[in-house]
Amino acid sequence: YDLDAFVASLPKAELHVHIEGTLEPELMFELARRNGITLPFDSVDAIRAAYDFSNLQDFLDIYYQGADVLRTEADFYDLAIAYFARAAADTVRHAEIFFDPQTHTDRGIAYETVINGLHRAQLEAEARWGLTSGLILCFLRHLPEQAALETLEMAVPHLDKIIGVGLDSSEVGHPPSKFARVFARARALGLKLVAHAGEEGPPDYVCEALDILGIDRVDHGNRSLEDEALTQRLAASGLTLTVCPLSNHKLCVVEDMNTHPIPHMLKRGLKATINSDDPAYFGGYVNDNFLALTGLRLISRADCVTLARNSVTGSFATDARKTELL
Ligand code: HPA
Ligand code: ZN
Repeated sequence: YDLDAFVASLPKAELHVHIEGTLEPELMFELARRNGITLPFDSVDAIRAAYDFSNLQDFLDIYYQGADVLRTEADFYDLAIAYFARAAADTVRHAEIFFDPQTHTDRGIAYETVINGLHRAQLEAEARWGLTSGLILCFLRHLPEQAALETLEMAVPHLDKIIGVGLDSSEVGHPPSKFARVFARARALGLKLVAHAGEEGPPDYVCEALDILGIDRVDHGNRSLEDEALTQRLAASGLTLTVCPLSNHKLCVVEDMNTHPIPHMLKRGLKATINSDDPAYFGGYVNDNFLALTGLRLISRADCVTLARNSVTGSFATDARKTELL
């Protein structure tokens, strides 16, 4: 029996992937050429060599710089269709994808350019691979809440093209409570709510995301395990955690992959899932993230089944779609 082959063919949902983080160096070069932009790197290898991070901020600096090659609707379409093709090859049947409009609107790119390009790729992915998907608009937490409120209003004329809102970028010093009003507004609009919490930030940020923002799912959430009461609360509530092993290792959130918290999360009854976060920057798509753990014998075949099932049940897909995928 071959666990790698089993994982590779397991139907799964991906619930934590930033579309800007799927920009492979090859496509970055192609878009730079197409848009007449000179990159500060002279080869694909030089770009990959620069992907050596010691924390979240190191990564974010280079990730926002990379996104500068995205200028036209076709660029966003090409970015997303490349991700969908790669995800389909990993037997991802449903994907819920983050995008960061402020990274683009702050450079003068219209919200419509971003959303229309991504949306066209979603339709194509469903037609071509039967891969269903939803978009989650993330607010950049290092910017003021007022900017997040303005971004949400920008999205209102296109509300049918997103399923929810999220919170990403530099975590420490930017607690969920800073975004209480914008999340309340998103809730009133009928959107799903998620937030990155407990990646670098303390367990208290996860509590704030639950109590003040009222999130439906927690992104990362690793540091929740430091708080016994919070761990019990997450287990009892059945809230899904979108965990990203290769990201955790590359950003030094987890020092040694042998001590990755996923096995402990499963033992404690948390609804953990496995996701790729920013696969072009962290060295692997969703199956690579499973294999990073199976290769170290940290999770069993039965755990892989549980993790894949958790990804479907923890998704925001319709009940009919979930039934198809289970
Ligand atoms: N954390 C916070 N912000 C991000 C991440 C992440 O892992 N990836 C892209 N933006
Ligand atoms: Zn993330």
